[in-house]
Amino acid sequence: MIITSGIAKYRFLDDMHYPFKANPHFLHWLPLTQHPYSWIAYTPGKKPVLAYYQPDDYWHVPPTAPEGDWVEHFDIRILSEPADAVHHLPSTGRSAIIGEDDSGLPGFAPNNPESVLNALHFQRAYKTPYELSRQRLAQRRAVPGHLAARAGFLAGQSEAQIHAAYLAATGHTDPDLPYNNIIGLNENGATLHYQYKNTQAPAQHRALLIDAGAEVDGYASDITRTWGNGDAHFQALIDAVEREQLALCANVRAGTDYRDLHLDCHLRLGRVLKALDIVDMDPGAMLETGVTSTFFPHGLGHPIGLQVHDIAGYTDENGQLIPRPAGHPFLRMTRTLAPGMVVTIEPGLYFIPTLLAKLKESQHGHAVNWKNVEHLAKFGGVRIEDEVHCTDGAPENLTRDAFAELS
Ligand code: GLY
Ligand code: MN
Ligand code: MN
Repeated sequence: MIITSGIAKYRFLDDMHYPFKANPHFLHWLPLTQHPYSWIAYTPGKKPVLAYYQPDDYWHVPPTAPEGDWVEHFDIRILSEPADAVHHLPSTGRSAIIGEDDSGLPGFAPNNPESVLNALHFQRAYKTPYELSRQRLAQRRAVPGHLAARAGFLAGQSEAQIHAAYLAATGHTDPDLPYNNIIGLNENGATLHYQYKNTQAPAQHRALLIDAGAEVDGYASDITRTWGNGDAHFQALIDAVEREQLALCANVRAGTDYRDLHLDCHLRLGRVLKALDIVDMDPGAMLETGVTSTFFPHGLGHPIGLQVHDIAGYTDENGQLIPRPAGHPFLRMTRTLAPGMVVTIEPGLYFIPTLLAKLKESQHGHAVNWKNVEHLAKFGGVRIEDEVHCTDGAPENLTRDAFAELS
């Protein structure tokens, strides 16, 4: 098996490249996140070869000499030219060559055999003790950012200032975050992947929805918190979503079909909508008719690890789709939970103008208390997101554990 780390990709008509993101298969072997043009060659029974690209470069800081616990486990060959990798790769026999098409070298074009990738992707869902240790650290790296963001919200900062405070507290810069931070004040919290950071603070700070992670040795965290300004109705909504979120986290148990958790989440959120006088309908009927999906239009969560949305959440070991429940097209996890899996649990309730307009027009529009919706819409929405490790017994909530240690 031969795995490329990838290449630096240049902007069109430009000599600057995009931030480098390594092939996750390469990161699965080694914590080398900033190492384009490197290769791993594994021949069963032999020490794996690492062709390690370390150019003589005075424009950039080249990678340091290989260091870390992993070094003794590899036969390391230093390269100063990307093309020299071919001299260190096995050229006879059958090879699975895994990587992006553009990272190949003569005689070593990636072939990405489907059966190999399907098996690797499926197994990636089960984390090793080493991987769990990295994921715990990624939580601990993110939590100070969330605490700083909350303080920034209370101090009346802009989205851009809150983002800067998050970066400073986590020691991240934008390009090395696992995903673009989502930092939405007030109504902006209703845009699921709100992509801007307004430099102007709003006149009023009613709510902050922050969905922000951190990275350690290639492993990601993905955490969401929502804060209010003391408005009783919005705080009741936050508290209710959090109660249901914690109950769902407690149900991350081996043998549970994640699809059932997702549907159970809809029923729970339906009960919240009813209890808070937002929708007057039976929660089961809200789920059946798609009314809960107006307020909760995304999936309950996804596997996470080397990728924020880790691969193979809804495929089996043969790459076959494990179907989503009808009417739930955005669910990214349809597998049965098993020890070693780490998944996010991220219920939310949002007031999204375009979806609300459709509901208003529908036959169920009359069941909605529009006055309450109008009030809550000024706060955007609520999402609470943790990472949970499925074990043989009680689940381990990686996120809550990190908050408890660091708050
Ligand atoms: N931050 C993206 C997500 O929660 O899936
Ligand atoms: Mn998230
Ligand atoms: Mn997530």
